[in-house]
Amino acid sequence: METNLIDKIRKRTFKVAVIGLGYVGLPLAVEFAKKGFAVTGIDIDKNKVNSLRKRISYIQDVSSKDIVEIVKQGKFKPTNDYSQLRLVDGVIVCVPTPLGKTREPDISFIVDAAKKIAKYLHRQEVIVLESTTYPGTTEELVLPILEENGLKVGKDFFLGFSPERVDPSNKMYHTANIPKVIGGVTKSCTVAIKALYSQVIDVVVPVSSARVAEMVKLLENTFRAVNIGLINEICLMAGHLNVDVWEVIRAASTKPFGFMSFQPGPGLGGHCLPIDPLYLSWKARLHGFECRFIQLADEINSAMPVHVVEKISQALNKYSKSLKNSKVLIIGIAYKANVADVRESPAIEIIKHLKLNEAIVSFHDPFAKNIKINGFNLLSTPLTKSTIKGKDCIVIVTAHKQIDYDLLLKHAKLIVDTRNVYEGKTCERIVRL
Ligand SMILES: NC(=O)c1ccc[n+]([C@@H]2O[C@H](COP(=O)([O-])OP(=O)(O)OC[C@H]3O[C@@H](n4cnc5c(N)ncnc54)[C@H](O)[C@@H]3O)[C@@H](O)[C@H]2O)c1
Repeated sequence: METNLIDKIRKRTFKVAVIGLGYVGLPLAVEFAKKGFAVTGIDIDKNKVNSLRKRISYIQDVSSKDIVEIVKQGKFKPTNDYSQLRLVDGVIVCVPTPLGKTREPDISFIVDAAKKIAKYLHRQEVIVLESTTYPGTTEELVLPILEENGLKVGKDFFLGFSPERVDPSNKMYHTANIPKVIGGVTKSCTVAIKALYSQVIDVVVPVSSARVAEMVKLLENTFRAVNIGLINEICLMAGHLNVDVWEVIRAASTKPFGFMSFQPGPGLGGHCLPIDPLYLSWKARLHGFECRFIQLADEINSAMPVHVVEKISQALNKYSKSLKNSKVLIIGIAYKANVADVRESPAIEIIKHLKLNEAIVSFHDPFAKNIKINGFNLLSTPLTKSTIKGKDCIVIVTAHKQIDYDLLLKHAKLIVDTRNVYEGKTCERIVRL
């Protein structure tokens, strides 16, 4: 490999492009820019690019102050013009990897980005895929597209995969201090990618191939999804056995080894946990291997929103009310506490089922102010004493910190608490999962 490339990286004259400026791409672009690299941020979403041009961040974990600073220093240029790739030395791809209608991997965003990179690919360029995807994507899908014009990987350009582990709203761990796994398609690719990431990330963990790096991310998220599936099943079982599952978990957590605490809840959400394991099982199936754990966890976790609706229905029943025409207020529609992201949120399924049963549904969320469900736009209701008093049932789906849970408890007729917010409180009006 030309020492020139490593030199450029070390001197931070290496120009980086980040494709996809969402929850993953924007913090990463900002981190590179803050460390002195000139960063071009490319996104097809004009609203995002315009917002960044106005120096306004739309990602909770990225401050507008940081955007103002890096733009002022000439270190960050947001654009939707792919031809800017002619001018960069490295490209990091952070586009979405959702599921298609048939719940199979939709890698069209990666293919699209790869084709555009290929158009401007030049010698000594470093390309890293960060979008979570099945093992083999970088080598089997991205590499052939990039080599189409005759340049050779490991010699003319360098390609690899590095999983993104960012945890939105986590105050302790952020882009720079989360160890970063990297795997190149060839050894020289790993050397180049390691040199680049080492400039901005505290700990870089090289593995032997892009395929291994791809699978690392899927193992991590499958581990979480399966364990959440297990604890959700234990929660349902505990209900039958008339045992308080939360008390069981609390006591089990006192074991200093061999037990890791997971919490039951209304179902999985976000762009990772409900989706990533299905990327792995899909790929394994192509090789004739059925992942039974993933399948089972998916079934259990996906059924939790319906279980929550059953709980609401049973709770209302006790007060001689039916779901039909009952006023139900959902607390928290984001997929997890203290974020605004509603992608794949279990609240969506819960609201759909409540509406199917003709309940009158509203929601309150201090972060996610509106949500589109079945073509209808719902807006967050202010949480006041009279709002609470006017509802037949309050359902805590996402336990944001800002919510005044004492106010809720004081005025609510009935609370279905799917997050154990009222741990230890014995009150007839509180129904747990
Ligand atoms: N959100 C997380 O917490 C998280 C954590 C780890 C990994 N990931 C993975 O990172 C990837 C990105 O996720 P995200 O949450 O940042 O998604 P996101 O939707 O927030 O951001 C993706 C961005 O890519 C843009 N985009 C789509 N196609 C494009 C194209 N061809 N060219 C340029 N821009 C394009 C979109 O407009 C969007 O702004 C996914 O594979 C996801 O699984 C996400």
